[in-house]
Amino acid sequence: MDTTTIGHMWLVMITIVPMIIVIAAMVARAKTTIPPKRKRPQPPPVAEGAPLVGVLPAILTKTLQTVICDQYLKLGSVFTLSSFGIKVTFLVGPKVSTHFFHGTESEISISDVYKITVPIFGKGVGYDVDNDTRNEQHRFFAETLRPAKLRSHVGLMVREVEEYFGKWGRCGTVDLKHEIDNVLLLIASRCLLGKEVRDHMHDEVSSLLHELVSGLHLTSMFFPYLPTPAHRRRDQARARFEEIFYKIARARTSSGHVGDDMLQGLIDSKYKDGRATTEAEVTGLLVALLFAGHHTSSTVTAWTATRLLHHAEWLHAATEEQRQLLRMQGDGIDYEVLLQMDVLHRSVKEALRLHPVTPMILRRARRAFTVQTEEGNEYQVPEGRMLASPLVVNNLLPSIYREPKAFDPDRFAAGRAEDKVGGELAYTTFGAGKHACMGEGYAYLQIKVILSHLLRNFKLELVSPFPETENMISMRPKGEVMVRYKRQLLQFA
Ligand code: HEM
Repeated sequence: MDTTTIGHMWLVMITIVPMIIVIAAMVARAKTTIPPKRKRPQPPPVAEGAPLVGVLPAILTKTLQTVICDQYLKLGSVFTLSSFGIKVTFLVGPKVSTHFFHGTESEISISDVYKITVPIFGKGVGYDVDNDTRNEQHRFFAETLRPAKLRSHVGLMVREVEEYFGKWGRCGTVDLKHEIDNVLLLIASRCLLGKEVRDHMHDEVSSLLHELVSGLHLTSMFFPYLPTPAHRRRDQARARFEEIFYKIARARTSSGHVGDDMLQGLIDSKYKDGRATTEAEVTGLLVALLFAGHHTSSTVTAWTATRLLHHAEWLHAATEEQRQLLRMQGDGIDYEVLLQMDVLHRSVKEALRLHPVTPMILRRARRAFTVQTEEGNEYQVPEGRMLASPLVVNNLLPSIYREPKAFDPDRFAAGRAEDKVGGELAYTTFGAGKHACMGEGYAYLQIKVILSHLLRNFKLELVSPFPETENMISMRPKGEVMVRYKRQLLQFA
């Protein structure tokens, strides 16, 4: 090897090799400093089912509630049920429900779901109008249903209840579900629609409401304007409602008479720009309130009465509370006395937990979003996906409710307050967030007026078996709720 060759090799060793090492090290370092590319989360797991029909056979054989429970145990708190290409992603429990309840309309849409109410409520209100107008109309509801206004309705409710049950005999047997439905319609007639309707048109308005409700069935969810007989009757009923309210509103304006009802509240409502509500809007908003408030309150009152009559210890506790109030406050019932009916209040709340009026709350994802599950998974829910928050499962979660299937109103008592301990979204039977029920206060008032009257004036006994739930669309008690009554004033001396 000559010196030139040796010199060349040294050159390679001392210059080129270190350069290669430095470059290699730089590349290696560069490799480690580039953040690893984040993998996009997977969509929620889909429950296994037969091709095309998916989970439908399981739902038909086992009930929807059982299927949701099974899949929750198998797949965790976020999963998808699919049938005939329709996919619904279920979000079970408070941890995964924040975006569902608090997302904006452009992220999580309620109007896409409730568009089906447009032919019932009418054009120009609710889910027929843009978001800003709807928010203003919600302000009218909030104003009409605020506690200061409700206070004056208690006297009207009490009068209706006393008059209705005053017509019962000394003793007898009745279908309590049917009786509760009737008395609540009278209250709605008086408090919502006004004295004119209550005194002269109650029967007509009751059958119109019936036609509206019957116009909302499975076909109308997909083809709301199909000219079926039920849809025709719905449209005629809607038109007649409009005639009735037009007439009353005009008569009030020309005579200067101011009503003490929600109809008046809506007539007097004004948009931000000073525009008054039109007669068509007033009609639509009233129909919306009737729709939101009647069936729901009637279902809960029937379930609470049935539960109290079925659980002797709670019937005793609720009766003793009435005895105590009679002793301390006399036999008058007003807003303040109703607020003191704590056992009764918790009994209604507990009946609602076990028998929510709707099995699930629905929304549609207008934008994709990610959700972290309580099991530590992360999923991306795609844009356009139908979403469901299943009350029938959320209300029975053992992580929130001790012995969740037991009827135990004390779980909501101070000190235990399982719903509060479970966090803001633990008890969503009245919804939550922006769309939380606006009639919760009104509902509790009328339910407590009815049940306290029954406890104070009758001895009641459930004579039919404890009812099942009608089905997963109407969560009412199935069949008749037969109750034997005997007139008996509650003694407190
Ligand atoms: C115990 C009886 C009731 C129950 C269980 C109940 C339940 C609910 C639920 C779950 C929602 C939310 C729906 C959703 O997020 O999609 C809701 C909304 C609503 N409820 Fe009730 N409700 C009851 C009684 C009433 C009454 C008596 C009224 C009025 C007279 C009323 C007026 C409303 C209104 C206006 C909304 C719509 C709120 C919005 O979209 O922003 N509810 N209710």
